[in-house]
Amino acid sequence: MRNALQEKALRTENLILKKQIEERYDFEKIIGESKSIRSSIEEVKKIADSKSNILILGETGTGKELFARAVHYNSSRRDKPFVPINCSAIPENLLESELFGYIKGAFTGAVSTKRGLFEEADGGSIFLDEIADMNMSLQAKLLRVIDDLEIRPLGGVQSRKIDVRFITATNRDILKAVKEGTFREDLYYRINVVTLQLPSLGERKEDIPILAMHFLVKYSNEIGKHITAIEDTAQKLLVNYSWPGNVRELRNIIERAVLVTDRDIILSEHLPETLKSIDDFPCKALDKVLSIESYTKEFILRYQSTHSENELSAMLGITRKSLWEKRKRWGLVRAK
Ligand SMILES: Nc1ncnc2c1ncn2[C@@H]1O[C@H](COP(=O)(O)OP(=O)(O)OP(=O)(O)O)[C@@H](O)[C@H]1O
Ligand SMILES: [Mg+2]
Repeated sequence: MRNALQEKALRTENLILKKQIEERYDFEKIIGESKSIRSSIEEVKKIADSKSNILILGETGTGKELFARAVHYNSSRRDKPFVPINCSAIPENLLESELFGYIKGAFTGAVSTKRGLFEEADGGSIFLDEIADMNMSLQAKLLRVIDDLEIRPLGGVQSRKIDVRFITATNRDILKAVKEGTFREDLYYRINVVTLQLPSLGERKEDIPILAMHFLVKYSNEIGKHITAIEDTAQKLLVNYSWPGNVRELRNIIERAVLVTDRDIILSEHLPETLKSIDDFPCKALDKVLSIESYTKEFILRYQSTHSENELSAMLGITRKSLWEKRKRWGLVRAK
């Protein structure tokens, strides 16, 4: 038998574990100082503890799943399961049995009874990712589940009550899908009691250096390297890039850079070539951070060894004479 002291230690340990799990999905884990991301966080804080279903919209890699977890772990459902499911990753015919479960013998292959994910999520939240990819017949069934909060496993005769909050997400234009008739309008309104539109990384370039440092610390700690900084030119490459893959792409690029660097700093040579293409160089947001002058200087430095004077001045939209004057003023010697 446990004594009181052991009991207490166990309780404390449980509390610590619980706290750790909560912290993992705390809003603090959502990095960013930009107005757009801060307002997304504020919005979620307000509605996390309500019963409302939430639809999270945003391009790929913008943090939809991260936000979905934050919603769950900041709601009173936090001690119950958070069940994520990617509707487009599971073949259509399997998705229904995954969600609803089945009774032994319901179909060929149903060798034993299996609880569905709706039931697994009972008391907690279910996260239906890529919801716009769900087929129409399953959409109709989902609508019924949301309305009645009741499910019937495949092959079963009895319905079971469930208490689940629905958090859904998509990177597709779901309103367009509604208009085109591939997504049910009534279902759209059920899942979309609250919409959260996450900003793309390109819309919040000021967060790039912060996020880059965050991943730098994370990955260098993980592999036991002591990397302390991202060199200026590399930083600018990061800020200039258009980030079609958003935060996930940034995370991957920093992870790779941390692996390949043999120094205590990340240099532009540690970044992939895609970041160095000219198309991505001119960037409005960067102008806000840097002055036009330092931007131009940086530009000339970067491209003067690979481009002719004609090309450089055309790219900058200045005359050759003006280019020559700038070079002279800044002492930029053309590297051969
Ligand atoms: N604001 C942020 N702060 C810290 N990490 C972030 C942030 N946004 C995204 N991430 C990280 O980026 C990665 C991608 O995020 P997530 O999986 O939530 O994106 P998603 O929007 O669900 O993407 P997809 O549409 O491709 O499924 C994860 O590792 C996540 O932790
Ligand atoms: Mg996702």
